[in-house]
Amino acid sequence: MPKPAERLNRFSEYVFARLAKRVAEVEKRTGRKVLGFGAGSPDIRPSEKYLAAFAAAIQAEKAHLYPGYGATPAFAEALGRWYQKRFGVLLNRDEVVPLLGAKDGTSHLPLALLDDGDEMLIPNPGYPGFSGSLIMYGMKPVYYPLTADCRLNVAAIEPLVTSRTKAIVVNFPSNPTGQVATLEELTAVVAFAKKYNIVLVYDNAYAEIAFDGYRAPSILEIPDAKDVAVEFGSFSKTYSFAGYRMGWMVGNADVCRALLQVKSQIDSGMSLPLQALAVVALTETDLEWHEAMIREYTRRRDIIAQKLKLLGLTFELPRAGLYIWARIPDDAPSSEEFCMKLLEERHILLTPGSAFGSHGERYVRVSICVNIDAIDTYF
Ligand code: MLT
Repeated sequence: MPKPAERLNRFSEYVFARLAKRVAEVEKRTGRKVLGFGAGSPDIRPSEKYLAAFAAAIQAEKAHLYPGYGATPAFAEALGRWYQKRFGVLLNRDEVVPLLGAKDGTSHLPLALLDDGDEMLIPNPGYPGFSGSLIMYGMKPVYYPLTADCRLNVAAIEPLVTSRTKAIVVNFPSNPTGQVATLEELTAVVAFAKKYNIVLVYDNAYAEIAFDGYRAPSILEIPDAKDVAVEFGSFSKTYSFAGYRMGWMVGNADVCRALLQVKSQIDSGMSLPLQALAVVALTETDLEWHEAMIREYTRRRDIIAQKLKLLGLTFELPRAGLYIWARIPDDAPSSEEFCMKLLEERHILLTPGSAFGSHGERYVRVSICVNIDAIDTYF
């Protein structure tokens, strides 16, 4: 093979790709299945209603055609109605971009907002999908700290702004920490983005996975947020559609246009059957299925939490999201070594907190979207 690009030396393989290989290797060597609390990959079967709608959509006369580059009118309208009902937010057609999963947005939006060497403010700890692509493109992630309990603190971000700062990424309910944000905190970060004239990229992929009565807000609920903000949403977690790759970006029309321009060079749009499925999911929501899903995740969260205590981990139960963010025992050398020892000795996979940034060291992330029927045989 000819020598690959130098660029490959700048970034490492995505953490969940790396861990999947490690798990496969351990399973092959020992012949025992690993109980994987790694990637947040919802295992619960989607609602039969949605599966039937999807099957029908695939059979439709024009289902196989290229879908065009933006949203179909039906998709944009359905998402608009859903935003109005769920958040009281009005969306225009030019404020909606369908995505091939929210990661499509997080990884490609920098191409629309930043030039070489420009900077994007990224939460630490934060989802690794925010920074990997930036590094790959030769742009610069500037990591901002959160408070001790992983909340937003605009005062700590201000000193990091430079003339090259083009955007800030904010993510609540947070992956990996499960922390949530108040409307006051979101109001402060909108004001911050306006003050420095930068784009506010709000990742709201976990908004619909909430426990104990918690309701997650949209950044677009903040008055005039659309002047600077866009928001990512995802069907992956809410509907257990992770493998279908379906999400959206909504908000500032100029940013939407810019992302569509980038994506027009990269992919050929979200397929028509998937957009038709999205319309059904957004407008004919199977409430019974969604309530059962939340009940099941709550049950798992509580059972997994009891087991984690046996490993000496300390944590707060998350009010939203699909992860428990737990502190490792003081005598553990590092989060990576703690996780690899657990994998080797007990066939349990947790994600090292260091994969989410330097402030994730001494923590592990534990996914709760995992079948735990056999959990007692591992703990
Ligand atoms: C996660 O596990 O953080 C994600 O949901 C899967 C991904 O990396 O995209």
